[in-house]
Amino acid sequence: MNKKSIRLSQRRRKQKLAKIKSTVFMIAGSALIILALNLDGLTDPARGYSQAELREIGQAVFQANCQVCHGEQGEGHQQVEQAPALNGSEHAWHHPDRQLSELISDGGEIMPPFGKVLTDTEIIAVIRYFQGWWAPDQLAMQQSR
Ligand code: HEC
Repeated sequence: MNKKSIRLSQRRRKQKLAKIKSTVFMIAGSALIILALNLDGLTDPARGYSQAELREIGQAVFQANCQVCHGEQGEGHQQVEQAPALNGSEHAWHHPDRQLSELISDGGEIMPPFGKVLTDTEIIAVIRYFQGWWAPDQLAMQQSR
């Protein structure tokens, strides 16, 4: 090999390397974008659970923690008179999921906070459970908020 052809092959190698580098960056960049777009789904506490499983978890959570005040069928006003109905006959269905889960987690003036007792999955599960008592149009309206 003469000097010229050595330089030529070095340049080709450099070009090849640059191409590989830009491909790697492109793939890494796309992966990051896909990850960012999916982050919402990855942090969704209901991820990996079927609706039926969530309802089942929610029922157990409700019966153990909420029923005393909110009633077996969410009719409200049991041991604590001020506890509202959660069955669609009062105001609960006007609040979006995020607001319901914040209240359950942080508690109210009278209602105790459950953020340290229940996991995020259990909180969304108990919401899905009492949403089962709402009329379909109440649920549709609430979910669209
Ligand atoms: C000690 C009684 C008590 C317990 C136990 C209790 N709550 Fe409550 N809950 C209340 C009261 C009282 C309110 C009204 C807000 C306030 O004054 O704290 C309320 C409000 C709510 C609301 C808002 C309803 C609306 O119309 O805005 C939701 C949703 C709710 N509770 C869900 C739950 C869930 C889910 C559990 C169980 C994990 C639970 N509560 C356990 C007493 C209770």
